[in-house]
Amino acid sequence: MADFNRTSRIMATCAKAMPALLAEEMGALGLNVTRRLDAGVETEGSLLDAMRMNLQLRTAHRILYLLAETVITNPDELYNWVRSVPWEQYVRPDGYVSVQSSVLHSSIRDTRFAALRCKDAIVDRIRDAMGQRPDSGPEDTGSVVFLFWRDEYAAIYVDTSGEPLSRRGYRRLPWKAPLRETLAAGIVISSAWDGQSPFVNPMCGSGTLAIEAALMATATAPGLLRKNFGFMHVPDFRRKDWEELRSDAIGKRRTCGCEIVASDHDQRAVKTAQANARAAGMGDSIRFETCDFARTTLPGSGGVVILNPEYGERLGKGKDLSGDYRAIGDFFKKQCRGRRGFVFTGNMALAKGIGLRSKRRVQFFNSTIECRLLEFDIYEGTKRVSRQGSAGQDVNERPAPRRAGPAQA
Ligand SMILES: C[S@@+](CC[C@H](N)C(=O)[O-])C[C@H]1O[C@@H](n2cnc3c(N)ncnc32)[C@H](O)[C@@H]1O
Repeated sequence: MADFNRTSRIMATCAKAMPALLAEEMGALGLNVTRRLDAGVETEGSLLDAMRMNLQLRTAHRILYLLAETVITNPDELYNWVRSVPWEQYVRPDGYVSVQSSVLHSSIRDTRFAALRCKDAIVDRIRDAMGQRPDSGPEDTGSVVFLFWRDEYAAIYVDTSGEPLSRRGYRRLPWKAPLRETLAAGIVISSAWDGQSPFVNPMCGSGTLAIEAALMATATAPGLLRKNFGFMHVPDFRRKDWEELRSDAIGKRRTCGCEIVASDHDQRAVKTAQANARAAGMGDSIRFETCDFARTTLPGSGGVVILNPEYGERLGKGKDLSGDYRAIGDFFKKQCRGRRGFVFTGNMALAKGIGLRSKRRVQFFNSTIECRLLEFDIYEGTKRVSRQGSAGQDVNERPAPRRAGPAQA
């Protein structure tokens, strides 16, 4: 049976440009960061540590627990090697297994073939050992195995998350171009909001930024919202261990001590955001308004104002959005004095139309679209700049390229 205390390497994957944030989160959990890649951060730990990471991390996508690594040169070697792993310890014979992969090898033309050989080896091994074989298919709601194969290096992991952690479980209603929950969390963390001063999110869409802010303000672990994780399908999983981690996290929750306001001019968006906030248990922590962004209530003083306007790639295609960006600049300048203003956008040409000097630009990727979180200090005398004149430094740390791993872009 699987030993939940056995230590191995654990790779937490994330979106490109987010490893610095994720490494900070992992450090705060007391984990020792051993390696950073383009889209992931590695540490060492047990399956119990992996459970805690699934519960607590806000910017991670998947928590991969390393079972084996080797050098292989062709699909037959892949099959034999995967079959040598004691899968009966990690996958229930009466369960369901899905193999996901990232494969780049000259002997493989279709990566699905590598995943299929890998799946065959797993179920053959379990059938021989247990007299029964698990079902298999593409669903990520049971056991999930992750194969990484680059050049001659191959590694195989238990995906302890199963469904990606960006699916927190609170998005009950669909809305146009929502941010991934993990990306929204990264944006809020990058704003360095203190969790006490006002947090204002005009143009809230489905409310992801405000909901992630509320989860942080109430110290709610994001994994508390989900019922199913990959690690729950490991044969020796003890629910009691999970319940202990959960009650510890529940004990650390606090009531929201600040004002969080979210607004959108589309009433359907506001209804969606409200339903999502309620599903996240944050319905009482966020005040929703239906209005033009410039009429959003700005409570108290200080704090942050974050907008994620349409930027053409996903929403607003074909629309002239330049007026919106100029109006955001006016809103900041005229109504947001003493606050820190942020715009998250994938269109820097439109962003220039804001007409204010950004003091910081943080790079993100929204799926494959390169985006920036722009920060504006808004104080008495903040001036417009010319369309060409927007200044500011990109501040993302770029981790140095290192040895191959599943979180490589
Ligand atoms: C890119 S979406 C925001 C997505 C959001 N961050 C999420 O995670 O769901 C932009 C939103 O801005 C809203 N919007 C556009 N123009 C607006 C305006 N003038 N005033 C208020 N909301 C506006 C749209 O209705 C849309 O919901």
